[in-house]
Amino acid sequence: MNPNKALWEKGDFTRIAASMRTSGEELVSGLGITRGLKVLDLGCGDGTTALPEARLGADVTGVDIARNLVEAGSRRAQAAGLTNCKFREGDACDLLGLEDGTFDLVVSIFGAMFAPRPFDVARAMVRVTRPGGRIVMGNWIPNDPTLVAQILKISSAYTPPPPEGFVSPMAWGVESQVIERFTSAGVPKEKISFFRDTFTFHHPGAPEALLAEFRDYYGPTMNAFEAADKAGRKKALERELRVLFESQNRSGKQDVTAIPATFLRVTVLC
Ligand SMILES: C[S@@+](CC[C@H](N)C(=O)[O-])C[C@H]1O[C@@H](n2cnc3c(N)ncnc32)[C@H](O)[C@@H]1O
Repeated sequence: MNPNKALWEKGDFTRIAASMRTSGEELVSGLGITRGLKVLDLGCGDGTTALPEARLGADVTGVDIARNLVEAGSRRAQAAGLTNCKFREGDACDLLGLEDGTFDLVVSIFGAMFAPRPFDVARAMVRVTRPGGRIVMGNWIPNDPTLVAQILKISSAYTPPPPEGFVSPMAWGVESQVIERFTSAGVPKEKISFFRDTFTFHHPGAPEALLAEFRDYYGPTMNAFEAADKAGRKKALERELRVLFESQNRSGKQDVTAIPATFLRVTVLC
């Protein structure tokens, strides 16, 4: 099986997405979405940003490589009565089945960054965006001191080195790399802009409880725990992550979690 697909179908990302709804809605509210806008939400998961886009009246297609998340997103849209929000399985590397120039706006929040072959991903996103349309990506930043970059960094220290030729998803958080990828897809450099934004993870329990969700349901962290367990280092990984989650909690309470994480917001005008 495609290892990229297997990674995201392994756990249950809906458990993590539950902590991301507020920031997802806030982000979407600033995208200038109007009724009837054709939006592709790529790497949509269970619809953290796709559903709010549809609530604003956009005609939304959510695409994700993980079948379980496509199903979960469809159920959420149906339960919310959002007939203008459809989900389907697909790969950001090629976006097969999506016509050229279809979308006014392509949104990918911590989604397309996880697909292999980043140059193909940039080309596919540009291809399906109409001339004059926009692409908005949210990408975690390598070595950033905040939550997700640190989870991935700590986890990688407990996992075997990736296969040769593997390109880190975190490279999408480096401006020069993003420019190289989109310019090679035909976008002039001046049409690519960046700013640092914040996404806050909210959980009704203690930071340790949010960490347990990552440990048990988030593919990359699950893999790190499996590898650490085999190497007899599971407790060390758990300890390191607990310190991280607790030290980053800004809720002001020990039994409630609010952890802000910095990301690179990329806007591309096609
Ligand atoms: C960190 S989750 C983010 C999900 C969602 N955008 C959100 O903010 O809740 C990453 C998502 O990207 C999806 N993904 C990973 N590789 C992909 C690929 N090659 N094509 C499409 N989706 C992909 C995963 O299945 C997962 O749903």
